[in-house]
Amino acid sequence: MQTQVGIVGAGPAGLFLSHLLYMRGISSVIVETKSRAYIEARVRAGVLEQGTVETLEEMGIAERMHRERLVHRGIQISFGGKRHHIDFAELTGKGVTIYGQHEVVKDLVAARLGTGAEIVFDVEDTSLHDLDSDQPKIRYRKDGAAHEIRCDFIAGCDGFHGVSRASIPAEILRTYERVYSFGWLGILAEAPTTNEELVYANHERGFALYSMRSPEITRLYIQCRADEDLNEWPDDRIWEELHTRLETGDGWTVAEGPVLQKGIAPLRSFVTEPMHYGRLFLAGDAAHIVPPTGAKGLNLAVADIRVLTEALAQFYHSGKGELLDAYSAICLDRIWKVQRFSLWMTSMLHRFDGETAFDRHVQLAELAYVTSSRAASSSLAENYIGLPLSY
Ligand code: FAD
Ligand code: DHB
Repeated sequence: MQTQVGIVGAGPAGLFLSHLLYMRGISSVIVETKSRAYIEARVRAGVLEQGTVETLEEMGIAERMHRERLVHRGIQISFGGKRHHIDFAELTGKGVTIYGQHEVVKDLVAARLGTGAEIVFDVEDTSLHDLDSDQPKIRYRKDGAAHEIRCDFIAGCDGFHGVSRASIPAEILRTYERVYSFGWLGILAEAPTTNEELVYANHERGFALYSMRSPEITRLYIQCRADEDLNEWPDDRIWEELHTRLETGDGWTVAEGPVLQKGIAPLRSFVTEPMHYGRLFLAGDAAHIVPPTGAKGLNLAVADIRVLTEALAQFYHSGKGELLDAYSAICLDRIWKVQRFSLWMTSMLHRFDGETAFDRHVQLAELAYVTSSRAASSSLAENYIGLPLSY
Protein backbone atom coordinates (compact mmCIF):
# COMPACT_ATOMS: atom_id res chain seq x y z
CA MET A 1 0.00 0.00 0.00
CA GLN A 2 1.20 3.53 -0.80
CA THR A 3 0.13 6.82 0.78
CA GLN A 4 1.60 10.26 1.44
CA VAL A 5 1.45 10.19 5.25
CA GLY A 6 1.33 6.93 7.21
CA ILE A 7 -0.22 7.49 10.64
CA VAL A 8 0.36 5.16 13.60
CA GLY A 9 -2.55 5.33 16.07
CA ALA A 10 -6.23 6.29 15.81
CA GLY A 11 -6.39 8.35 19.00
CA PRO A 12 -7.29 12.03 18.80
CA ALA A 13 -3.86 12.97 17.38
CA GLY A 14 -3.96 10.48 14.49
CA LEU A 15 -7.61 11.10 13.63
CA PHE A 16 -7.36 14.91 13.70
CA LEU A 17 -4.23 14.75 11.55
CA SER A 18 -5.73 12.40 8.98
CA HIS A 19 -8.83 14.55 8.48
CA LEU A 20 -6.98 17.87 8.45
CA LEU A 21 -4.58 16.46 5.82
CA TYR A 22 -7.54 15.24 3.75
CA MET A 23 -8.89 18.81 3.79
CA ARG A 24 -5.53 19.97 2.34
CA GLY A 25 -5.63 17.30 -0.38
CA ILE A 26 -2.99 15.08 1.29
CA SER A 27 -3.62 11.33 1.53
CA SER A 28 -3.04 9.25 4.66
CA VAL A 29 -3.68 5.80 6.10
CA ILE A 30 -4.06 5.10 9.82
CA VAL A 31 -3.09 1.82 11.49
CA GLU A 32 -4.52 1.09 14.96
CA THR A 33 -3.99 -1.87 17.29
CA LYS A 34 -7.45 -1.69 18.87
CA SER A 35 -10.89 -2.17 17.31
CA ARG A 36 -13.19 0.66 16.28
CA ALA A 37 -15.61 -0.25 19.10
CA TYR A 38 -12.78 -0.12 21.64
CA ILE A 39 -11.46 3.33 20.72
CA GLU A 40 -15.00 4.72 20.53
CA ALA A 41 -15.77 3.55 24.07
CA ARG A 42 -12.46 4.50 25.74
CA VAL A 43 -13.31 7.05 28.45
CA ARG A 44 -10.63 9.69 28.89
CA ALA A 45 -10.53 13.49 28.77
CA GLY A 46 -13.59 15.70 28.90
CA VAL A 47 -12.58 19.36 28.60
CA LEU A 48 -12.01 21.01 25.20
CA GLU A 49 -10.22 24.33 24.86
CA GLN A 50 -11.63 26.89 22.44
CA GLY A 51 -8.78 26.12 20.00
CA THR A 52 -9.82 22.45 19.91
CA VAL A 53 -13.48 23.43 19.42
CA GLU A 54 -12.50 25.77 16.57
CA THR A 55 -10.46 23.02 14.93
CA LEU A 56 -13.55 20.75 14.92
CA GLU A 57 -15.61 23.65 13.53
CA GLU A 58 -13.09 24.29 10.73
CA MET A 59 -13.26 20.59 9.90
CA GLY A 60 -17.06 20.79 9.60
CA ILE A 61 -17.64 18.10 12.22
CA ALA A 62 -18.82 20.18 15.16
CA GLU A 63 -22.57 19.72 14.70
CA ARG A 64 -23.13 17.00 17.32
CA MET A 65 -20.68 18.68 19.68
CA HIS A 66 -22.62 21.95 19.44
CA ARG A 67 -25.84 20.10 20.21
CA GLU A 68 -24.61 17.97 23.10
CA ARG A 69 -21.79 19.90 24.74
CA LEU A 70 -21.93 21.88 27.96
CA VAL A 71 -20.26 25.30 27.91
CA HIS A 72 -18.70 26.33 31.22
CA ARG A 73 -17.77 29.91 32.04
CA GLY A 74 -15.36 28.90 34.82
CA ILE A 75 -14.36 26.35 37.46
CA GLN A 76 -14.64 26.11 41.21
CA ILE A 77 -11.76 25.47 43.59
CA SER A 78 -12.54 24.02 46.99
CA PHE A 79 -10.25 24.11 50.05
CA GLY A 80 -10.53 24.85 53.76
CA GLY A 81 -14.24 24.02 53.72
CA LYS A 82 -15.19 26.63 51.07
CA ARG A 83 -15.75 26.69 47.30
CA HIS A 84 -14.36 29.58 45.26
CA HIS A 85 -15.33 30.53 41.71
CA ILE A 86 -12.79 31.38 39.00
CA ASP A 87 -14.80 33.14 36.30
CA PHE A 88 -12.93 32.51 33.01
CA ALA A 89 -15.54 34.37 30.94
CA GLU A 90 -15.16 37.51 33.01
CA LEU A 91 -11.36 37.24 33.20
CA THR A 92 -10.62 36.22 29.59
CA GLY A 93 -13.86 36.52 27.59
CA LYS A 94 -13.72 32.77 26.92
CA GLY A 95 -15.06 29.56 28.46
CA VAL A 96 -14.43 25.85 27.97
CA THR A 97 -16.46 23.05 26.39
CA ILE A 98 -17.35 19.80 28.14
CA TYR A 99 -17.57 17.02 25.55
CA GLY A 100 -16.03 13.60 26.07
CA GLN A 101 -12.89 12.54 24.22
CA HIS A 102 -14.59 9.35 23.03
CA GLU A 103 -17.39 11.44 21.51
CA VAL A 104 -14.74 13.45 19.63
CA VAL A 105 -13.19 10.16 18.51
CA LYS A 106 -16.59 8.88 17.30
CA ASP A 107 -17.18 12.08 15.30
CA LEU A 108 -13.70 11.92 13.77
CA VAL A 109 -13.92 8.22 12.83
CA ALA A 110 -17.33 8.79 11.18
CA ALA A 111 -15.96 11.79 9.26
CA ARG A 112 -12.87 9.87 8.13
CA LEU A 113 -14.76 6.78 7.01
CA GLY A 114 -17.38 9.02 5.39
CA THR A 115 -14.76 10.22 2.90
CA GLY A 116 -13.72 6.65 2.10
CA ALA A 117 -10.52 7.00 4.11
CA GLU A 118 -8.66 3.93 5.29
CA ILE A 119 -8.31 3.20 9.01
CA VAL A 120 -6.85 -0.27 9.51
CA PHE A 121 -8.07 -1.47 12.92
CA ASP A 122 -6.90 -4.51 14.92
CA VAL A 123 -3.33 -4.51 13.60
CA GLU A 124 -0.50 -6.37 15.36
CA ASP A 125 3.30 -6.06 15.46
CA THR A 126 3.51 -2.51 14.06
CA SER A 127 7.09 -1.59 13.15
CA LEU A 128 8.67 1.44 11.44
CA HIS A 129 11.45 1.23 8.85
CA ASP A 130 13.80 3.44 6.78
CA LEU A 131 12.94 6.56 8.78
CA ASP A 132 16.07 8.33 7.56
CA SER A 133 15.21 7.71 3.89
CA ASP A 134 12.63 9.59 1.78
CA GLN A 135 10.41 6.51 1.67
CA PRO A 136 9.80 5.29 5.22
CA LYS A 137 7.59 2.24 5.77
CA ILE A 138 5.10 0.99 8.33
CA ARG A 139 4.85 -2.80 8.62
CA TYR A 140 2.15 -4.64 10.55
CA ARG A 141 0.23 -7.89 10.67
CA LYS A 142 -3.50 -8.22 10.34
CA ASP A 143 -5.44 -11.51 10.51
CA GLY A 144 -2.07 -13.29 10.43
CA ALA A 145 -0.92 -11.68 7.14
CA ALA A 146 2.04 -9.26 6.82
CA HIS A 147 1.42 -5.81 5.29
CA GLU A 148 3.54 -2.78 4.40
CA ILE A 149 2.61 0.88 3.87
CA ARG A 150 5.14 2.94 1.89
CA CYS A 151 4.85 6.66 2.51
CA ASP A 152 6.63 10.02 2.34
CA PHE A 153 6.26 10.70 6.07
CA ILE A 154 5.20 8.81 9.18
CA ALA A 155 3.26 10.49 11.98
CA GLY A 156 3.81 8.72 15.30
CA CYS A 157 0.46 9.29 17.03
CA ASP A 158 0.49 6.05 19.02
CA GLY A 159 0.45 7.37 22.56
CA PHE A 160 2.90 6.92 25.42
CA HIS A 161 3.27 3.13 25.03
CA GLY A 162 3.43 3.07 21.22
CA VAL A 163 6.29 1.98 18.95
CA SER A 164 7.05 5.34 17.28
CA ARG A 165 9.10 7.04 19.98
CA ALA A 166 10.97 3.76 20.60
CA SER A 167 11.90 3.64 16.88
CA ILE A 168 14.09 6.76 17.21
CA PRO A 169 17.75 5.89 17.97
CA ALA A 170 18.37 6.36 21.69
CA GLU A 171 21.33 8.70 21.14
CA ILE A 172 19.05 11.19 19.31
CA LEU A 173 16.40 11.44 22.03
CA ARG A 174 16.44 13.37 25.27
CA THR A 175 13.62 12.66 27.69
CA TYR A 176 12.57 14.59 30.77
CA GLU A 177 10.33 12.95 33.32
CA ARG A 178 8.68 13.40 36.67
CA VAL A 179 6.66 10.61 38.24
CA TYR A 180 4.24 11.01 41.12
CA SER A 181 3.53 8.63 43.98
CA PHE A 182 -0.21 9.06 43.47
CA GLY A 183 -2.76 8.44 40.73
CA TRP A 184 -6.39 9.26 40.03
CA LEU A 185 -9.19 6.80 40.60
CA GLY A 186 -11.90 7.86 38.14
CA ILE A 187 -15.52 6.80 37.80
CA LEU A 188 -18.19 7.54 35.24
CA ALA A 189 -21.61 7.44 36.93
CA GLU A 190 -25.19 7.58 35.80
CA ALA A 191 -25.94 10.32 38.31
CA PRO A 192 -27.48 13.73 37.59
CA THR A 193 -25.12 16.69 37.76
CA THR A 194 -25.78 18.88 40.75
CA ASN A 195 -23.29 21.65 39.99
CA GLU A 196 -22.99 23.74 36.84
CA GLU A 197 -19.17 23.79 36.90
CA LEU A 198 -16.23 21.48 37.61
CA VAL A 199 -15.01 21.46 41.21
CA TYR A 200 -11.29 20.92 41.92
CA ALA A 201 -10.91 20.12 45.63
CA ASN A 202 -7.85 20.16 47.85
CA HIS A 203 -9.00 18.27 50.95
CA GLU A 204 -7.07 17.00 53.99
CA ARG A 205 -7.67 13.46 52.67
CA GLY A 206 -6.41 14.29 49.17
CA PHE A 207 -7.52 15.76 45.84
CA ALA A 208 -10.97 15.19 44.33
CA LEU A 209 -12.54 16.42 41.09
CA TYR A 210 -16.20 16.79 40.24
CA SER A 211 -16.76 16.73 36.49
CA MET A 212 -19.45 15.62 34.07
CA ARG A 213 -20.20 14.50 30.54
CA SER A 214 -23.88 15.55 30.30
CA PRO A 215 -26.66 16.62 32.68
CA GLU A 216 -27.25 12.90 33.42
CA ILE A 217 -23.66 11.60 33.61
CA THR A 218 -21.01 12.63 36.12
CA ARG A 219 -17.26 11.99 35.94
CA LEU A 220 -15.54 11.95 39.30
CA TYR A 221 -11.96 11.47 40.43
CA ILE A 222 -10.14 11.00 43.72
CA GLN A 223 -6.43 11.03 44.45
CA CYS A 224 -5.22 7.55 45.42
CA ARG A 225 -1.87 5.75 45.61
CA ALA A 226 -0.29 5.06 42.20
CA ASP A 227 -0.19 1.32 43.01
CA GLU A 228 -3.69 1.24 44.48
CA ASP A 229 -5.66 -2.00 43.95
CA LEU A 230 -9.04 -1.20 42.39
CA ASN A 231 -10.53 -4.18 44.26
CA GLU A 232 -10.03 -2.25 47.49
CA TRP A 233 -12.41 0.39 46.17
CA PRO A 234 -16.00 -0.88 46.15
CA ASP A 235 -18.47 1.76 44.96
CA ASP A 236 -19.64 2.60 48.50
CA ARG A 237 -16.11 3.50 49.55
CA ILE A 238 -15.64 5.72 46.48
CA TRP A 239 -18.90 7.61 47.08
CA GLU A 240 -18.09 8.10 50.76
CA GLU A 241 -14.69 9.55 49.85
CA LEU A 242 -16.22 11.81 47.18
CA HIS A 243 -18.81 13.19 49.65
CA THR A 244 -16.09 13.83 52.23
CA ARG A 245 -13.62 15.52 49.88
CA LEU A 246 -16.04 17.53 47.73
CA GLU A 247 -18.89 18.66 49.98
CA THR A 248 -18.31 21.70 52.16
CA GLY A 249 -21.54 21.94 54.17
CA ASP A 250 -22.92 24.78 52.03
CA GLY A 251 -25.87 22.68 50.87
CA TRP A 252 -24.31 21.31 47.69
CA THR A 253 -24.17 17.52 47.52
CA VAL A 254 -22.81 15.00 45.03
CA ALA A 255 -25.60 12.81 43.63
CA GLU A 256 -24.93 9.06 43.52
CA GLY A 257 -25.89 6.63 40.77
CA PRO A 258 -24.83 3.39 39.09
CA VAL A 259 -21.10 3.34 38.30
CA LEU A 260 -20.68 2.76 34.54
CA GLN A 261 -16.89 2.65 34.42
CA LYS A 262 -14.05 2.65 36.95
CA GLY A 263 -10.27 2.85 36.57
CA ILE A 264 -6.99 4.10 38.01
CA ALA A 265 -4.62 6.29 35.98
CA PRO A 266 -1.05 7.00 37.15
CA LEU A 267 0.18 10.61 36.95
CA ARG A 268 3.28 11.51 34.96
CA SER A 269 5.01 14.53 33.46
CA PHE A 270 7.11 13.57 30.42
CA VAL A 271 8.68 15.35 27.43
CA THR A 272 10.69 13.98 24.48
CA GLU A 273 13.06 16.19 22.51
CA PRO A 274 13.25 16.42 19.56
CA MET A 275 9.83 15.39 18.32
CA HIS A 276 11.13 14.28 14.96
CA TYR A 277 13.73 12.00 13.44
CA GLY A 278 14.23 11.78 9.68
CA ARG A 279 10.78 11.36 8.15
CA LEU A 280 9.09 10.42 11.48
CA PHE A 281 7.19 13.11 13.40
CA LEU A 282 5.83 12.42 16.90
CA ALA A 283 2.62 14.10 18.11
CA GLY A 284 0.45 13.97 21.23
CA ASP A 285 1.06 11.46 24.02
CA ALA A 286 3.73 9.71 21.93
CA ALA A 287 5.93 12.74 22.63
CA HIS A 288 4.68 14.12 25.95
CA ILE A 289 2.45 13.39 28.94
CA VAL A 290 1.01 15.92 31.36
CA PRO A 291 -0.63 15.09 34.67
CA PRO A 292 -4.40 15.46 34.12
CA THR A 293 -4.94 18.35 36.58
CA GLY A 294 -5.95 21.15 34.22
CA ALA A 295 -7.25 18.89 31.44
CA LYS A 296 -4.49 19.53 28.91
CA GLY A 297 -3.54 16.13 27.39
CA LEU A 298 -6.05 15.99 24.55
CA ASN A 299 -5.79 19.72 23.80
CA LEU A 300 -2.01 19.53 23.62
CA ALA A 301 -2.26 16.70 21.09
CA VAL A 302 -4.55 18.84 18.91
CA ALA A 303 -2.12 21.78 19.11
CA ASP A 304 0.75 19.55 17.85
CA ILE A 305 -1.45 18.35 15.01
CA ARG A 306 -2.32 21.87 13.90
CA VAL A 307 1.38 22.66 13.54
CA LEU A 308 2.17 19.34 11.83
CA THR A 309 -0.69 19.82 9.35
CA GLU A 310 0.61 23.27 8.37
CA ALA A 311 4.14 21.93 8.04
CA LEU A 312 3.12 19.01 5.80
CA ALA A 313 0.84 21.26 3.73
CA GLN A 314 3.73 23.69 3.22
CA PHE A 315 5.92 20.79 2.07
CA TYR A 316 3.38 19.38 -0.39
CA HIS A 317 2.10 22.71 -1.71
CA SER A 318 5.32 24.72 -1.99
CA GLY A 319 8.06 22.13 -1.70
CA LYS A 320 9.54 23.92 1.33
CA GLY A 321 10.58 22.02 4.43
CA GLU A 322 11.09 24.99 6.77
CA LEU A 323 8.05 24.37 8.97
CA LEU A 324 8.80 20.65 9.13
CA ASP A 325 12.32 21.50 10.33
CA ALA A 326 10.87 23.91 12.92
CA TYR A 327 8.00 21.57 14.00
CA SER A 328 9.66 20.23 17.13
CA ALA A 329 10.85 23.63 18.40
CA ILE A 330 7.48 25.30 17.73
CA CYS A 331 5.56 22.58 19.59
CA LEU A 332 8.00 22.29 22.49
CA ASP A 333 7.80 26.00 23.24
CA ARG A 334 4.09 25.65 24.03
CA ILE A 335 4.40 22.11 25.50
CA TRP A 336 6.79 23.29 28.23
CA LYS A 337 4.39 26.09 29.18
CA VAL A 338 1.57 23.57 29.42
CA GLN A 339 3.83 21.24 31.45
CA ARG A 340 4.46 24.13 33.82
CA PHE A 341 0.74 24.81 34.23
CA SER A 342 -0.21 21.14 34.72
CA LEU A 343 2.55 20.66 37.30
CA TRP A 344 1.52 23.85 39.11
CA MET A 345 -2.15 22.79 39.26
CA THR A 346 -1.11 19.30 40.41
CA SER A 347 1.19 20.70 43.12
CA MET A 348 -1.46 23.12 44.37
CA LEU A 349 -4.28 20.58 44.60
CA HIS A 350 -2.81 17.25 45.78
CA ARG A 351 -1.44 15.99 49.08
CA PHE A 352 2.19 14.88 48.72
CA ASP A 353 4.10 12.12 50.54
CA GLY A 354 6.58 13.67 52.91
CA GLU A 355 5.06 17.14 52.79
CA THR A 356 5.84 19.15 55.91
CA ALA A 357 3.52 21.44 57.88
CA PHE A 358 5.40 24.31 56.24
CA ASP A 359 4.68 22.90 52.76
CA ARG A 360 1.00 22.54 53.64
CA HIS A 361 0.77 26.15 54.82
CA VAL A 362 2.41 27.40 51.63
CA GLN A 363 0.00 25.28 49.55
CA LEU A 364 -3.04 26.71 51.33
CA ALA A 365 -1.60 30.22 50.95
CA GLU A 366 -1.21 29.57 47.21
CA LEU A 367 -4.87 28.54 47.00
CA ALA A 368 -5.95 31.59 49.02
CA TYR A 369 -3.90 33.82 46.72
CA VAL A 370 -5.14 32.28 43.46
CA THR A 371 -8.77 32.57 44.52
CA SER A 372 -8.52 36.14 45.83
CA SER A 373 -6.11 37.95 43.49
CA ARG A 374 -7.40 39.00 40.07
CA ALA A 375 -3.87 38.77 38.63
CA ALA A 376 -3.38 35.22 39.92
CA SER A 377 -6.82 33.96 38.89
CA SER A 378 -6.35 35.58 35.44
CA SER A 379 -3.13 33.62 35.05
CA LEU A 380 -4.92 30.37 35.92
CA ALA A 381 -7.80 31.29 33.57
CA GLU A 382 -5.65 32.12 30.53
CA ASN A 383 -3.79 28.83 30.87
CA TYR A 384 -6.93 26.75 31.50
CA ILE A 385 -8.84 28.12 28.49
CA GLY A 386 -5.72 27.46 26.37
CA LEU A 387 -2.59 29.40 25.52
CA PRO A 388 -2.42 30.80 21.98
CA LEU A 389 -0.80 28.71 19.28
CA SER A 390 1.70 30.65 17.21
CA TYR A 391 3.81 29.46 14.29
P1 FAD B 1 -3.88 8.21 22.48
O1 FAD B 1 -5.23 8.69 22.75
O2 FAD B 1 -3.20 7.37 23.49
O3 FAD B 1 -3.94 7.40 21.09
C1 FAD B 1 -2.91 6.56 20.66
C2 FAD B 1 -3.52 5.46 19.80
O4 FAD B 1 -2.46 4.66 19.26
C3 FAD B 1 -4.39 4.51 20.60
O5 FAD B 1 -5.63 4.36 19.97
C4 FAD B 1 -3.60 3.22 20.65
O6 FAD B 1 -4.44 2.09 20.71
C5 FAD B 1 -2.82 3.30 19.36
N1 FAD B 1 -1.58 2.52 19.35
C6 FAD B 1 -0.70 2.34 20.37
N2 FAD B 1 0.33 1.59 19.98
C7 FAD B 1 0.12 1.30 18.66
C8 FAD B 1 0.84 0.57 17.71
N3 FAD B 1 2.00 -0.05 18.03
N4 FAD B 1 0.35 0.47 16.46
C9 FAD B 1 -0.82 1.08 16.13
N5 FAD B 1 -1.56 1.79 17.01
C10 FAD B 1 -1.09 1.90 18.26
N6 FAD B 1 -6.42 14.21 29.34
C11 FAD B 1 -7.14 15.23 29.73
O7 FAD B 1 -6.94 16.33 29.23
N7 FAD B 1 -8.13 15.05 30.68
C12 FAD B 1 -8.40 13.81 31.19
O8 FAD B 1 -9.32 13.66 31.98
C13 FAD B 1 -7.65 12.74 30.80
N8 FAD B 1 -7.90 11.52 31.30
C14 FAD B 1 -7.13 10.48 30.87
C15 FAD B 1 -7.36 9.20 31.38
C16 FAD B 1 -6.56 8.13 30.97
C17 FAD B 1 -6.82 6.75 31.54
C18 FAD B 1 -5.52 8.35 30.04
C19 FAD B 1 -4.63 7.19 29.60
C20 FAD B 1 -5.32 9.62 29.53
C21 FAD B 1 -6.11 10.69 29.93
N9 FAD B 1 -5.91 11.97 29.43
C22 FAD B 1 -6.66 12.99 29.85
C23 FAD B 1 -4.94 12.27 28.43
C24 FAD B 1 -5.59 12.29 27.04
O9 FAD B 1 -6.60 11.33 26.98
C25 FAD B 1 -4.47 12.06 26.06
O10 FAD B 1 -3.57 13.13 26.19
C26 FAD B 1 -4.95 11.90 24.62
O11 FAD B 1 -5.64 10.69 24.45
C27 FAD B 1 -3.76 11.97 23.67
O12 FAD B 1 -4.16 11.57 22.39
P2 FAD B 1 -3.17 10.81 21.44
O13 FAD B 1 -3.91 10.61 20.18
O14 FAD B 1 -1.85 11.48 21.42
O15 FAD B 1 -2.88 9.41 22.16
C1 DHB C 1 -11.78 16.00 33.43
C2 DHB C 1 -10.50 15.55 33.50
C3 DHB C 1 -9.50 16.39 33.93
O1 DHB C 1 -8.22 15.98 33.99
C4 DHB C 1 -9.77 17.68 34.31
O2 DHB C 1 -8.78 18.46 34.75
C5 DHB C 1 -11.05 18.13 34.21
C6 DHB C 1 -12.06 17.28 33.78
C7 DHB C 1 -12.84 15.07 32.96
O3 DHB C 1 -12.54 13.93 32.65
O4 DHB C 1 -14.00 15.49 32.91
